[in-house]
Amino acid sequence: MNQDKPIITLNKINWRRKGKTILNEVSWEVQAGEHWALLGLNGSGKTSMLKMITGYQWPSSGEVSVLGNVFGKTNIPELRKSIGWVSSSLDQEYQTRADSAIEVVISGRFASIGIYDEITDDDRSKAMELLGQFRIKQLANQLIHTLSQGEKRKVMLARALMSSPKLLVLDEPCNGLDIHAKEELLAAIENMADSPVAPTIIYVTHHIEEIVPSLTHALLINSGNVVAKGEKKEVLTEDILEKTFQVPVTVKWENERPWIRIKSFLTQG
Ligand SMILES: Nc1ncnc2c1ncn2[C@@H]1O[C@H](COP(=O)(O)OP(=O)(O)OP(=O)(O)O)[C@@H](O)[C@H]1O
Ligand SMILES: [Mg+2]
Repeated sequence: MNQDKPIITLNKINWRRKGKTILNEVSWEVQAGEHWALLGLNGSGKTSMLKMITGYQWPSSGEVSVLGNVFGKTNIPELRKSIGWVSSSLDQEYQTRADSAIEVVISGRFASIGIYDEITDDDRSKAMELLGQFRIKQLANQLIHTLSQGEKRKVMLARALMSSPKLLVLDEPCNGLDIHAKEELLAAIENMADSPVAPTIIYVTHHIEEIVPSLTHALLINSGNVVAKGEKKEVLTEDILEKTFQVPVTVKWENERPWIRIKSFLTQG
């Protein structure tokens, strides 16, 4: 990988499906050292953007390159080993399996659900170290489907880090967590982002207060169109948030995090 190249480049991406435009002329660059939040209403195109970046969807037009690899000229399954992914849909894959927490973490090395290769002592010690990083070493041998949502999400974060990814995609990682579990997970993410070997983080959320200090930039999208992108303090303004969410809001920064309030209730009709 060439260090000078952007981590992600989307160049004029269009994605149309059944006559509907899902992404419209989306351009985005993520440089090394930046961590981005991705915001937008349900169905605005956030997950679709993530799928373009991980090669699970191809754009109708435009160019994608990730970690210096131009799509169309690169081995995507190989590239995916450098990308960690956490989402609640991945949790469901493990719901019906009898894997222990440590096995789930180790499976991240092979980017598989379940383990089909030989496990080394190094794998085990790395997985334990990661569980330790999230303070859940004591859960190593507990079955994944018996863990609480918050514990499970930490296991999935550890799993995503098992392959030492260069890019970490978090699609609504705090979904379904209570405020305590959420703050704990955010603290763990903040802690991880502080590390000198931290991957570039892309963080999708519906809750802007989850934009912790280590997230440096934000991209806001509405119906497949980029509303704004850039340094978070420049783009998380009332005006831009209103355009993105179609609700009048006020924003207040507290403890280096943005908090949103609804100015007036939407009325029907
Ligand atoms: N494979 C597909 N075929 C047809 N339409 C699709 C496909 N994938 C996504 N869409 C549509 O594209 C739009 C954007 O979906 P996407 O999942 O990217 O939204 P999102 O911003 O992640 O929303 P949410 O916040 O609800 O997760 C939606 O209207 C969805 O129905
Ligand atoms: Mg989504």
